[in-house]
Amino acid sequence: DAMWIIVPAAGRGERMGSDIPKQYVMLGEQCMLQHTLSRLLPVPDVDGIVVTLSENDDHWPMVEAGADERVHTTIGGATRADSVLAGLRYVLDRAAPSSWVLVHDAARPLVSLSDIRRLVDTVYNSGAIGGILATPVQDTLKSADEYCCIECTVSRNQLWQAQTPQMFRAGELLEALETSRHGEVSGIPVTDESSAMENLGHEPQLVEALQPNLKVTRPADLLVARLLLTHFAD
Ligand code: C5P
Repeated sequence: DAMWIIVPAAGRGERMGSDIPKQYVMLGEQCMLQHTLSRLLPVPDVDGIVVTLSENDDHWPMVEAGADERVHTTIGGATRADSVLAGLRYVLDRAAPSSWVLVHDAARPLVSLSDIRRLVDTVYNSGAIGGILATPVQDTLKSADEYCCIECTVSRNQLWQAQTPQMFRAGELLEALETSRHGEVSGIPVTDESSAMENLGHEPQLVEALQPNLKVTRPADLLVARLLLTHFAD
């Protein structure tokens, strides 16, 4: 089966408070999106990478100049889920519904090739519907009321923080995202691909990320990402 990667990069990164969208902030000599793409291009057997951009993106040409011919672009949407849907439709115009897609946020520039390979191998070998990189929760968790008074401590056994990439078959993911989008499924908000699949009753596989896979959201994350990039070259 074919394999494509979708990189949602149409966000404005408002929590970053910078004048340019966070995926274009420089981390050393390259911007965040260039780092992210350079982590994804060596993944074996990738047919194409679709980057979803916002409509008025003037920064992409700087990335495109050095990009591989397997990198494509399409216009994203108002939410992350809409951007992923736009990327999926682009893929499905070019590849069969049984093709695998890895959805990976532009805002995770540190993802390691070894973790991605384990994700792909585990999904292939387990026969699971798909899978995601994730990390076990480290902090003690509290449940609070509306006044921030602690009601109880929540056991963190069996709790994981979802990361990306998230790997599913293109046709099945399209069905799941479209179903969730039309609000036909009640329950927990759909903030990643896996939750849309879970809403349809599927049980995606968790694969522990063993290397840092920081999501860059706030200004302090940029400092950490710059430092980590100098220590984790791959
Ligand atoms: O804002 P947040 O960090 O959660 O966004 C995650 C990823 O989704 C980022 O790479 C961002 O560029 C992308 N995104 C998108 N389209 C949107 C909003 C976010 O592609 N409308």
